[in-house]
Amino acid sequence: MGARYEVTAALDGRFHMPTYARKPVMFVRGDGMRLYDDDGREYLDFSSGIGVVNLGHAHQAVASAVCEQMQSLVHVSNLFYVPHRDELAERLVGLFGGGAKVFFANSGAEANEGAIKLARRWGKARGGESCTRIISAERSFHGRTLATLAATGQPSKQEAFEPLPAGFTHVPLNDFDALFAEMDETVCAVMLEPIQGEGGVFPCDAAYLTAVRTLCDERGVLLILDEVQTGFYRTGTAFAWQGYGVRPDIMTLAKGMANGLPIGAVVALDAVAGAFRPGDHGSTFGGGPVVCAAALATIDALESEGLAENARAVGDYLRDSLARLGDSTGEITEVRGRGLMVGITLARPVAAAVAATALANGVVVLSVGDSMLRFLPPLVCSNAEVDTLLETLSAALGSS
Ligand SMILES: Cc1ncc(COP(=O)(O)O)c(C=O)c1O
Repeated sequence: MGARYEVTAALDGRFHMPTYARKPVMFVRGDGMRLYDDDGREYLDFSSGIGVVNLGHAHQAVASAVCEQMQSLVHVSNLFYVPHRDELAERLVGLFGGGAKVFFANSGAEANEGAIKLARRWGKARGGESCTRIISAERSFHGRTLATLAATGQPSKQEAFEPLPAGFTHVPLNDFDALFAEMDETVCAVMLEPIQGEGGVFPCDAAYLTAVRTLCDERGVLLILDEVQTGFYRTGTAFAWQGYGVRPDIMTLAKGMANGLPIGAVVALDAVAGAFRPGDHGSTFGGGPVVCAAALATIDALESEGLAENARAVGDYLRDSLARLGDSTGEITEVRGRGLMVGITLARPVAAAVAATALANGVVVLSVGDSMLRFLPPLVCSNAEVDTLLETLSAALGSS
């Protein structure tokens, strides 16, 4: 740890609200899969922020796009047209498969807030004043604003902030009967992560998601898929729903969208998006020209560098390697995920200790609860870097 870390950590403790339990490292530079601390020490990053820098750290094309736009125009209000916003919206609608419209926000929680408001607006117009209820999954994570916290299926995160907005019901993931039992005329939307991220990387079963889509169609209920963490090729396709062949009515995006700059988006089918009226929703910063330029450069690079294929191939290698480590040590009871969004359950409640040891040995991984670890490397990750992760993990498990 360098002197700069000591000073910064002391200031952090004095002047920041204590909302984060930070790790004892100060990163000052990044390059692709690598991070460097204030002592010049190198780390392999298997977290990408938390699924944000899909292109890797300090990507030059994104940096150039941002610098160029910064020098010509940074901000005017959303009452005017600006460069890049429409091109980005067209690009997202194209990736979505057409027939949709976009609202730009600044984060995942804001994108989900927008989706919740849109679903309620649409529900009331279609099913009357009581058609406002949203069903989401237990163990889900949709954000920390009050409405997205209400949608989040984790009582431990909610209790301190009650009363939360009403109208949210949680059901166990992959239990179709439980969802079916909750479906009535008060439901305007079902909201799911195709693969639960913060909960520990738990994918929807393909048959479940298909059945939910069919039920929503039969009942005239919207399917909202929260792709905040799964989007932008993380799982090997532009959006995870493409891997399932289940297109939502509303999709929310953020995290990987501009490789680290703050942007989020709601993408909704034309007929649904049309429920909003001028003045219904808005954002001072949403869809600004700098972040839109960054997002376009990010999508271009994700596609031109073939990172979907890499996410699929290296993701398979990572899951196979973890399964082999589990077989040989008995320390891993389950390996889950798709592409480079991978989670494991450990046989012992040592996740935090293993993550801390890995960090001390130069590899950044994320722990979830007592016994789960997550791996979300930049999509440029190679098999050789997976091998380094596995060596570090094996040693950390042995010493924890
Ligand atoms: C699936 C999902 N939705 C929403 C969010 C909230 O995003 P943000 O932290 O940008 O508000 C997250 C963040 O982890 C997420 O993983």
